[in-house]
Amino acid sequence: MTDDQFREILRRLGLSWEGYRRVRKGVKKRLSEHLARLGCRRVEDYLRLLHEVPSSRREALLLMGVTISRFFRDLRVWDALESRVIPEILASGLREVSVWSAGCGRGEEVYTLKMLWEHLRENRPHLPDLTIRATDRNPENLAAAAMGIYPKSTLREVPALFRERFFSELGKGRVAIVASSLHENILWMVHDLMEDPPPRGGFHLVFLRNSLLTYYGESRAARALPRVLSSLGDGGFLVIGRKESLPSSVESLRGFLPEEGIYRKAWSRGGRTL
Ligand SMILES: C[S@@+](CC[C@H](N)C(=O)[O-])C[C@H]1O[C@@H](n2cnc3c(N)ncnc32)[C@H](O)[C@@H]1O
Repeated sequence: MTDDQFREILRRLGLSWEGYRRVRKGVKKRLSEHLARLGCRRVEDYLRLLHEVPSSRREALLLMGVTISRFFRDLRVWDALESRVIPEILASGLREVSVWSAGCGRGEEVYTLKMLWEHLRENRPHLPDLTIRATDRNPENLAAAAMGIYPKSTLREVPALFRERFFSELGKGRVAIVASSLHENILWMVHDLMEDPPPRGGFHLVFLRNSLLTYYGESRAARALPRVLSSLGDGGFLVIGRKESLPSSVESLRGFLPEEGIYRKAWSRGGRTL
């Protein structure tokens, strides 16, 4: 499959070439195998199928999902969460902090937040409970996430302290398993950001990293984003990927630490954004 053919498939699915450019080798391989299984000899045949059979689009989108991630991905973001964002959230004296990880992949981001929370609890025994809604379009990713077993390569940014405390090794050290305490209060759920209504929540913190804003074309992402933001409570924080940017149409967010991809939802009163 040539790059031009791949670009055309992306275009038809509303996906972004910029997002897929660096990972295209593996995705093109998966797609070519898929086309062969379907008996599509030419890419044009597949494009026709995508046009005529709605389920083939859903299948393609699942197949093209990119799950690459790692624990403590972009350490600076986690430092900023610990030193700036979480203290701000805690300042309002909540009993429970609720978080949504949207497009959580295989759960590395979710368990990272749990580790950070456990770590903070050491100095603050009265830290509120943390509940996490972790959603992804792909049920296979969620099943893997719930198991909590990872290749060692996903641990390369984990500080030694956390590594020792929260992971044990399996399979002659090739894989690591997360501590059972980290599994508590996480609700893993299939949810498609493009199609499903957003979870009701008034979340205090929403992670939307390396999914919607990377892999979708601008107009599709801009259409889906307001639904995500409607789940964020007033004054709540949104974390996007460090290399991602928000569509210019978004009015309800203020930069909090925009260089780290951290924004805050403005307070609204009487339908007006303040
Ligand atoms: C690269 S992972 C990101 C994991 C984590 N958020 C991170 O930044 O490390 C991207 C995930 O987004 C999910 N995804 C892509 N489109 C989605 C959609 N429309 N709805 C829900 N999840 C989606 C994919 O299934 C994949 O698991």
